[in-house]
Amino acid sequence: MSQTDIVSLQKEGKKFKPSAAFIKHAHLKSAAAYKKLHTESIKQPQKFWTRVSKELHWFKPWTKLHEWREPFAKWFIGGQTNVAYNCLDRHLTSWRRNKAAIIFEGEPGDERVLTYTDLHREVCRFANVLKAHGIKAGDRIMIYMPMVPEAAIAMLACARIGATHTVVFGGFSAQSIIDRLQDSQAKMVITADGGYRRGAVVALKRNVDDALKQATGVEHVIVLKRTGTEVAMQEGRDHWWHEETAKVSAVCPAAKLDSEHPLFILYTSGSTGKPKGVLHTTAGYLAGTYLTTKYVFDIKDEDTFWCTADVGWVTGHSYTVYGALANGATTVMYEGAPNWPEPDRFWRIIAKYKVTILYTAPTAIRAFMRWGDQWPKKHDLASLRLLGTVGEPINPEAWLWYHEHIGQKRCPIVDTWWQTETGSIMITTLPGACFTKPGSAGLPFFGIDPAVVNKEGSELPANVGGFLVVRKPWPSIMRTIHGDPERFKRQYFGEIPNVYFTGDGCRRDKDGYFWIVGRIDDVLNVAGHRIGTAEVESALVSNQKVAEAACVGRPDSLKGQALVAFVTLKSGITATPELKEELRAHVGVQIGPIAKPDDIRFTAALPKTRSGKIMRRLLKEIAGGGDVKGDTTTLEDLSVLVQLKADEE
Ligand code: PRX
Repeated sequence: MSQTDIVSLQKEGKKFKPSAAFIKHAHLKSAAAYKKLHTESIKQPQKFWTRVSKELHWFKPWTKLHEWREPFAKWFIGGQTNVAYNCLDRHLTSWRRNKAAIIFEGEPGDERVLTYTDLHREVCRFANVLKAHGIKAGDRIMIYMPMVPEAAIAMLACARIGATHTVVFGGFSAQSIIDRLQDSQAKMVITADGGYRRGAVVALKRNVDDALKQATGVEHVIVLKRTGTEVAMQEGRDHWWHEETAKVSAVCPAAKLDSEHPLFILYTSGSTGKPKGVLHTTAGYLAGTYLTTKYVFDIKDEDTFWCTADVGWVTGHSYTVYGALANGATTVMYEGAPNWPEPDRFWRIIAKYKVTILYTAPTAIRAFMRWGDQWPKKHDLASLRLLGTVGEPINPEAWLWYHEHIGQKRCPIVDTWWQTETGSIMITTLPGACFTKPGSAGLPFFGIDPAVVNKEGSELPANVGGFLVVRKPWPSIMRTIHGDPERFKRQYFGEIPNVYFTGDGCRRDKDGYFWIVGRIDDVLNVAGHRIGTAEVESALVSNQKVAEAACVGRPDSLKGQALVAFVTLKSGITATPELKEELRAHVGVQIGPIAKPDDIRFTAALPKTRSGKIMRRLLKEIAGGGDVKGDTTTLEDLSVLVQLKADEE
């Protein structure tokens, strides 16, 4: 896409200021205070980060703040710390030892509260289970679990001994597990007999069994009993969580890890067919998630913080687990669907546990809007004081609905822009210090120096659309793509000279507020989840009947973007509605239900340039139902376009 195609459709509306009541207790109370700290973080990073790092625990203090050998960053060099220690042990020396760390509600309605002491004990026990099975610092472990406290316990146990976790979202398929096992070379899988979703049991262990028929290298599988569903247990390989934890002690010292020790690998979609393993390390990631949670969510000891993201996504890592616990906060985990058994489940949970901060995705907000105002109205939402959104641009209508019906016009909304790769929030408004503009993420967080530039890297004037880049490395930047440093360099530092390239289009307004337009590569944002069109295409062509496939996004009022696949079939295969369903199911098996195309259109040929490149731009225009306005002079065969338009009608 060229820079001139980046047009922000979000128009500027009203500005919203935080109330005096909110400002009174906020960590940061004015635009001047925000500006002062931001300037310091950019101009005097040594001073800024030295102060921040003193709020964390170090076994050995760092000696050099950072090193930048593009594209590789290191932070807090020479230091030794431990993320689990910072999330747990650090709080055991104060009254927080008996504070709720995790409040959990299962989909069937079961509840559990784990205090910091409880959570510490469970993490230590499970860390000993890992050790008992031969896991050492640096080994990779896959976690494929429902949203239950044990998912967080498993993550923290890995962090405690220096094993690198790779959490795979429970909605991904067996094939996705195989790909990630092969890439990460994990030695162990931690899973459950099942998890609850919309009243049904998701067969997690069965998917692991299917994957392990093909993937090699996994020596042990630990299985949590969650649903009581019968599962096959392979002698010698599979072990029950409850049996293993009963055998070990609850004492396990946290390993003293180098600041750059790998903490986790999280797979995310890119513009090629293969998901990339984004690697995050210890101290920089900890500092980033700790500080953003503190300031963006204005966290206080009295808060009950609910980030609704699954731990299978980066938001679940950074805010449900690490950022929240590093701050000694109370974090809420809910296992199931927002509309189970009825569309008021979120509001019921907020009223029941007196949630004060809610962080969720625009796609969920749009779904709530559709389900109707009567559902939140049934519940007392007076405990809420701050709202947040993440994952995609929020349309002002949804923002206003969230403000009025959930925040009851009392709660500031923080729209947080960031990525799996950035580790923590990059652009947002600090709730007590800045005004918000519905539809704009806002201003750079501390230490972040973003800009909107053209292809040559020159900064563009206000309100001109361009590429969003970050000019300086920050502590929680991804360190590399696991096993593929060349791809890391090419994708993030090869596009525009000397800056981190986000892959997003953006404009910055006269107040310096960033307005994200969306992805400019072949990555879609469907219901807040990143889906690479190339992945779906390769899943489609892996079906015997498909000759060629091209996937594009079309605007969708609920999901943000919907996935449309244009498919040509092999000769002799007839296009039928049943085949559409078969192909959708095939993608579900190859990747997971979230990647199933919303629409499949069979076509005799795809529009291509003379050099054979599929012209997705044209497909996008067709999928969106509009006229093909763009330049078609490079199209090899114009009749294809005519045919595609005719197919549509
Ligand atoms: O396009 C941006 C969009 O989501 C992408 C990152 O996706 P992922 O790595 O899955 O992480 C999602 C959760 C952090 C970005 O490149 N995005 C994320 N947050 C926002 C957003 N777009 C606009 N506004 C946001 N607040």
